[in-house]
Order: sequence, then C-alpha cells, then structure tokens
Amino acid sequence: IKRIGIMTGGGDCPGLNPVIRAVTKTAISQYGWEVIGIRNGYKGLYENDWVKLDGDSISGLLHKGGTMLYSSNKDNLFHYLVEENGEMVYKDVSDVGVENLKKLDIDVMFIIGGDGTLTSARDFARKGVKVIAIPKTIDNDLASTDTTFGFNTAVGVATEALDRLHTTAMSHHRIMVLEVMGRYAGWIALHAGIAGGADAILLPEIPYDIHKVAEKIEERKKQGKNFSVIVVGEGAKPIDGEVVVREVIADSPDPIRLGGIGLKVAHDLEKICGNEARATILGHLQRGGSPSSSDRILSTRYGVAAVKLAVEGKFGNMVTLRGDTMSYDSLENVIGRKSKNVNPNGELVEMAKAIGIAFGD
Ligand code: F6P
Repeated sequence: IKRIGIMTGGGDCPGLNPVIRAVTKTAISQYGWEVIGIRNGYKGLYENDWVKLDGDSISGLLHKGGTMLYSSNKDNLFHYLVEENGEMVYKDVSDVGVENLKKLDIDVMFIIGGDGTLTSARDFARKGVKVIAIPKTIDNDLASTDTTFGFNTAVGVATEALDRLHTTAMSHHRIMVLEVMGRYAGWIALHAGIAGGADAILLPEIPYDIHKVAEKIEERKKQGKNFSVIVVGEGAKPIDGEVVVREVIADSPDPIRLGGIGLKVAHDLEKICGNEARATILGHLQRGGSPSSSDRILSTRYGVAAVKLAVEGKFGNMVTLRGDTMSYDSLENVIGRKSKNVNPNGELVEMAKAIGIAFGD
C-alpha cells in the first residue's frame, strides 16, 4: 500500500474528524502512506473532488464536530441522478468512481458511514475496490458493533436538555416533552431518559398508550409533584398507530424526519392531564458540535483499527467494537442485517421501570 483514500458519507456525527485524524496520523507516521481525502462523499468520488491530507491539514481536528471532508447524504453512484439529453435520469455511474480511484492511484479506500454509505461500500468491494469500512451513527443501531461514536455525545446533549427542562417544568407546573433522534431505535431516548431522570420514556420499540403515560403524571401529582418531563424518541408510535399531528406534517413525504411525535405527545397530555405542556424538538443539536471525550477515544480506536485491517489485507470488512475489543465483520454480513434495537424486556428497560420510569405500555 502506498496511497489510501478516505471519505465520509451520510449524515454527520460527532467523531468523524477524530476518525479522519486517526487514520491519517497512523497511515503517515507508522506506514509512510499518502492520504487522499475525497470530499463530499460519493458525490466527490464521482466528481473527482479531493484534497491531500497531511499533518498540517489534520491539525486541530480532534475536538471539532462535523467532517472536514464534508458529506453528501443520499448520493449513491449505483443509482445516481445525472443529466442525459437534457433530462435528469438515474444511472449506475459506479464505474466512474472506480476509474477515479485508479487515476488517483488509491490502493485502499477507507469509507466512513452508516447503512446507506456502507451498502455502496459493499457494492464497490464487489467491484474489486479494496475497501475498509468504519461505521458511524449517533443512533447506535448498527447490528454488527456494540457502540458507534457520536452516540455518547448525542446522549450527553439530550441529557443536558432534560436537566434544563426539569427546572423550567418545575417552575411552571408544566409537562415538558423532549423529542430526540432515533428513527428506528430508541437508544438515545432510553439512555438520556435514564441519565436525565425522565418520568416517562417513549421508544419506537414499545408502542405507547397515552393514557398510561398520563397515569404516571397523575401519580406524580398525588405525590405533590405537579410537573413531569417526558422523553420521546422520534420514531415512537402510539398504540393506535396515529402519528400525524399537523397539516404541514401530513403533507410531508417523511413526517417523522420533520419532527412531530413530541408535539403530539405534548398536545395529548395537556388535554388529558390539564397541565400546560410544551414540546422541544432537539433535532440536529444532537449531531453538531464537539465530540465527548469518550467519543474522541472511540473514534480514534476505530481509525487506528481500520488502518490495522488494511495492513493485514482484510479488505471488504467493517471495523467493529465487541465488548472492549476492536474487531471486524465482513460488509457482506453487515449490510442487510436488521438494525440493533432496544429490547423491551431487556435489563435497561427493566431497570428503568424498577425506578418508576413509565414506558406507556
Ligand atoms: O440516522 C441518524 C439520524 O440522526 C437520525 O436519528 C435522524 O432521523 C436522521 O439522521 C436525520 O437525518 P437528516 O439530517 O437527513 O434530517
């Protein structure tokens, strides 16, 4: 190996810059490789948009959020929107990506991303590109690895938000609802809810009955606590399955992504319990900004382990964390596996219930 490429794809996540830094530092200082950063994810691979990375370009990156290489969210070179005879059409342009890597003399491509990005990484591996994949998601729902960087930071931001909501909830005898990210899995809601002392946690994995949540609020009132704080994962669903709350959301092709379930929960609880309710949608505050210290360490571990995989010639694999050991799994296995969800009967949920947190079930 003489020269490697590195790119970030999909939504950003605290820890991306530390991974880029770790791969680049190890590659240069331990092995003398050259490092090329492909900008804007797969879009940049198609457009041949790159930058050389060296000690100077990665200096001061460790604590910075986002990705210095930029990202493009939904670009997939196997199904890419291009102009042809004056019309926009989807085409497989992956050969252009492979050619561009050849032109740049890139021997190994390090691809950092979530489900979508890594599906394309697998497809490039199938076309003979030597790929090393690094998983990324704040949602922590990738099946093949125990913990992804970004998750700890997101939980920290959500926990701080809950702490702040507590004091204002108490002052005004209100119900405060915090909607957090997690489209398919409720890990952020569960962890932040426990750490932030929520009275109820609503998760995609446990359909909730709003009346059971209201019972919890009423129980607290009887104890003289005329306020409550509820955390809701954005993918949470009521047992009757109704999610749409506002016309604007009804119009959206992707209502959950606009934010909304938190508003519905606040609205319904205000009606049932009579306390004023307010909803806060935490949104991308969970994704932006500085990674926590543990995410800086975790992403550095992922980066260094990724370089080790390349040195050992283990291409077509994704770096994983199993227990406290860095390991790997093949992209063929990783892709298509069901996402890692909260177990409604697992120890964490049981523990939360034991200390009185309601789940609406
Ligand atoms: O998958 C990570 C995630 O942060 C989800 O929790 C959330 O639903 C989604 O990305 C938001 O994506 P976008 O930035 O495209 O709105």
